[in-house]
Amino acid sequence: MNYIGISAGFHDAAISVVDDHGNILFAGHSERYSKKKHDKDVCEELLTDALKHTNSSCIQFHYYERPWVKSLRQLRSGEGFTWPTWEKLLGSTYKRIGKPKIHTHGHHLCHAAAGFQTSFFEDATIVVIDAIGEFDTITIWDAWYDLLTGKAEYKKIWSMQYPNSIGLFYSAMTERVGLHPLDEEYILMGMSAYGEPTHVADMINELVDKKDILTFKQNLHTGVSKDFLQDADVMDIASSSQHLLEFMLTRVMWKARTLGLSRNLVYGGGVALNCLANRLLGNFYENIWIMPNPGDAGNSLGAACLGYGSKVNWTDAFLGYNIPGKYPVNGLLDILLTDGIVGVASGRAEFGPRALGNRSLLADPRGNEIKDKVNEIKRRQKFRPFAPVILEEYIHQYFTMPKYWDNSRYMQVISNCRNPELFPAIVHYDGTSRVQTVPKDRSGIRELLEKWHVLTGCPMLLNTSLNIRGNPMVNDRDDADNFEKLYGVKVLS
Ligand SMILES: [Fe+2]
Repeated sequence: MNYIGISAGFHDAAISVVDDHGNILFAGHSERYSKKKHDKDVCEELLTDALKHTNSSCIQFHYYERPWVKSLRQLRSGEGFTWPTWEKLLGSTYKRIGKPKIHTHGHHLCHAAAGFQTSFFEDATIVVIDAIGEFDTITIWDAWYDLLTGKAEYKKIWSMQYPNSIGLFYSAMTERVGLHPLDEEYILMGMSAYGEPTHVADMINELVDKKDILTFKQNLHTGVSKDFLQDADVMDIASSSQHLLEFMLTRVMWKARTLGLSRNLVYGGGVALNCLANRLLGNFYENIWIMPNPGDAGNSLGAACLGYGSKVNWTDAFLGYNIPGKYPVNGLLDILLTDGIVGVASGRAEFGPRALGNRSLLADPRGNEIKDKVNEIKRRQKFRPFAPVILEEYIHQYFTMPKYWDNSRYMQVISNCRNPELFPAIVHYDGTSRVQTVPKDRSGIRELLEKWHVLTGCPMLLNTSLNIRGNPMVNDRDDADNFEKLYGVKVLS
């Protein structure tokens, strides 16, 4: 039996496949195949690739939320009513898979399962915070494996419902500063370093119900009015939004911690992508796991995990489309040493929003010029830094990690660079870096870093996602060729 999990119909469609032994055979994003950013539909090429990775003709399908409950919430919130049919939610995919029975699971339960069943924990407190699925926007779960059956068990202990939503608040502020909600929240987070939190009180007064910092006076699903903080500096709005989000996150974690559940934390939902706020998690938990794709696309894996039922064999996030061949270590090294910058598109694509070395633009992180050079290619806001990827055993020599974070294998948390003057390209205005650590048991990027270290004495590289501006990450060799043509930077496979 294979279990196929599907996230589709709203944004960031994805498919995951888990087999009967708990192996994750495939997990990929629709946007990488269709080239439409945040594509809500399962595109044909994604389905074809996912089916290619199955190892059984006996397949069960699992969907990442409960469509009828979601429709009911949309009706109650005045968004109108749509009769949810599989033809509407899955389009031609439904016919192509033979119109089977599709099992549905709660949206937050899928977030919980994607985190818990990929973790090393035998029991956990799970916290899920996102914008909105059906009704829940924050949930706290008690999770464990049944001793006899090995089956994952979940008990929802506490929840907060729509329209009260930390995720919707942050998205509304993203829109308020002129960015795209449900897409550019990470830019708002980056902007926060440049401002002062001078509007936190205004935000609380205007938006938050004073009885509880987690409830709101108004539904922020459609954003805030244009007049809100009319004359404020956008950087100060960003800083204030980040501070308020962190205040709310602290409130949720405090609540979870005082429930007396497991001391292992699994954290999921789109808000878990806020790597700046995640530095606070160590104030509450010693053992922390955030699955590298904690947003809604990751729910496809959560749905597949629920179908399988038990702990899956998590190794890494390289689960998508495969560009065959050996990782081109020596070729990459040659170009890095001569030009200082090179692209790589090799092996299986990353499942999640971050390039971790298989679809990356890599550069020498030393010196003052490299940031502008990479920015010429990425053409993104000059104030945004790039991320470093480092041999894990050197992390403490180069960075100060937040409490109880010994590594950051999927760029889940920020750290502070010990010598920011030596590596200005990978250090943000506030001295933080969104670091990726690579452990000894990895291949590919690990081997490249080891050789780079021997030759240069520097155990890290600059690493940013390989994508043409405004487009999803490179998926296949054709995308890599287009990147090469457009920017004149070699991409090796
Ligand atoms: Fe979600």
